[in-house]
Amino acid sequence: MSARINPSILSADFVNFERDFNTIDQADFIHVDVMDNHFVPNLTFGLPMVRRMQEITPRPLDVHLMIADVDQWATGFAEAGVFSVTFHAEATSDPVALARRIRAAGSRVGLALKPGTGLEQYLDLLQEFDQLLVMTVEPGFGGQSLIENTLEKVSAARRKIDSEKLDVWLQVDGGIDESNIEAVSAKGADTFVAGSSVFRAENRNLQIAKLRDLANHGHERTDH
Ligand code: DX5
Ligand code: ZN
Repeated sequence: MSARINPSILSADFVNFERDFNTIDQADFIHVDVMDNHFVPNLTFGLPMVRRMQEITPRPLDVHLMIADVDQWATGFAEAGVFSVTFHAEATSDPVALARRIRAAGSRVGLALKPGTGLEQYLDLLQEFDQLLVMTVEPGFGGQSLIENTLEKVSAARRKIDSEKLDVWLQVDGGIDESNIEAVSAKGADTFVAGSSVFRAENRNLQIAKLRDLANHGHERTDH
């Protein structure tokens, strides 16, 4: 299996998304950060913008909801036909019920955990999800440094997924760049969000290919 590289458009030019999407056509998915200025202290865009993004790119959208009222809004993104909807465990009291509603509305579904949120209580719910997103920085902003101890959750999730042969992608988001992606892949991640490390590159498609190669190397030297 080849590692998936999902550039985060939080680092793109917000008034030139179409132009910027055309610079990342080697991406596996486009990672779309929806923020409401309540769940996180930052504001991006909502469903109308995401709908419009779908019209201007053939690449599937990997939507990361950093919003408080996720029980109300998440299914709308699935109904709009995005590839994947990931919501935060901290934002709902019933993650399984919400996951089932998102799947029923037609999208893959992901569960995201902030750095301070333990994995343990969610391990037995993983079969209800298509993806687990381990946040490797505090959600809200691009360009932060990876928090090393979040990788323990990556290893633990990988062991669970493998031992129970679960069909769950293991995504990491925050501070991923060419200096650490190989090691993070060796911990068991298979899906990598990269914002600033892709968008600051002179040639973004080459950077995506480089990150993918490094992650594939890491996968070969398993360390979890
Ligand atoms: C942060 C977002 C990330 C962000 C990552 O809350 O969820 O997707 O864009 O940016 P980098 O890769 O620059 O850390
Ligand atoms: Zn994100």
